Amino acid sequence: MNRRYAYFFVIFFLFFPFYEKASGIEIHYPYKIIAMRPCSRSSYIIFIKDKRGKLFLVKQKTSHFRSIASSLHSALTSKIYESIMEIRGQQVDILNKNDRHKFPLKYKKFQASIHTIVPGESVRQLFKNLNKGNIKLKRLFLNFNLAQKKESGLTLAIIKLLRRHADLPHLVALSMLVGDYDCENKNIFYDQKSNHFFLIDMDRSFSQNLCESAYENLKKIMAKNHRCFSHFDIVSLKKLAQTLDLLMEKNPITDIMNHARTIANKFDIKNQEDFMHIERLLKKINSFVHKSYSSAAKVIHLINYMATKIPRIM
Ligand SMILES: Nc1ncnc2c1ncn2[C@@H]1O[C@H](COP(=O)(O)OP(=O)(O)O)[C@@H](O)[C@H]1O
Ligand SMILES: [Mg+2]
Repeated sequence: MNRRYAYFFVIFFLFFPFYEKASGIEIHYPYKIIAMRPCSRSSYIIFIKDKRGKLFLVKQKTSHFRSIASSLHSALTSKIYESIMEIRGQQVDILNKNDRHKFPLKYKKFQASIHTIVPGESVRQLFKNLNKGNIKLKRLFLNFNLAQKKESGLTLAIIKLLRRHADLPHLVALSMLVGDYDCENKNIFYDQKSNHFFLIDMDRSFSQNLCESAYENLKKIMAKNHRCFSHFDIVSLKKLAQTLDLLMEKNPITDIMNHARTIANKFDIKNQEDFMHIERLLKKINSFVHKSYSSAAKVIHLINYMATKIPRIM
């Protein structure tokens, strides 16, 4: 009997690995609409609660082509970080042909994406509401813009913030690798209950090679004054490098492109123009990922070099 149980558990864990995140978004109908509104100048969002009480949102951009790009980029980015437990964020999928009529879409002809809702509030919102006395939380509210006007990507200021929370090196690694230059306070949520950060809105991914600018920035900082890195900075950078490495290992470029194609196949394509637009986007993603992966390899190499060569200053 005991042996039978043992077999059962071995088979159970082999076939149902509990550590993997679920993929695909399942909604239990009927749902209730919680709110419908423009959420920025360029998006219209319907917030819903399904039969089981789970919250989702349906997002459309205010232009047809941006809706396609936005949903493809966000869905692909969420697929990439699903491969790593340390990175939390919304799950995104395309609202496919069969489900479109189930939602009162603002722009009937535009594509739409469906997203899970992340807990907490945006860092920007929390910062506004924060009680002045709460120093510990306040230290977490970072100026997290990865695409500042002068320098983008991994600046010295961002490096100094990394050690403030264990999630941050992982989040920054992901945003760098997918070139999400919109990764900033309003698109990062923080949940006080679980003490975790969550990513939303990755629709500007695959646009800027943030790994290359990180590499250039790191080289410049090293040449100027390598003693500006503390022991803690090096530890955070090493974590960031490990996550870059792991993300690339778990997401070979061919897999990424297969996912991108699977996502693209869910679009309700009506004409040749849409088809050509999607093909252009896929081509752009492919060339972006090749460049980003080769820049990320340089970043990892440089960080490992720094970790062994730089005398550590506490
Ligand atoms: N997954 C999510 N969980 C919780 N709130 C969200 C989520 N996605 C979007 N929101 C809310 O909707 C707003 C707009 O969504 P976002 O995807 O950032 O659109 P935009 O591309 O217009 O910036 C966000 O600032 C946030 O308040
Ligand atoms: Mg946003």
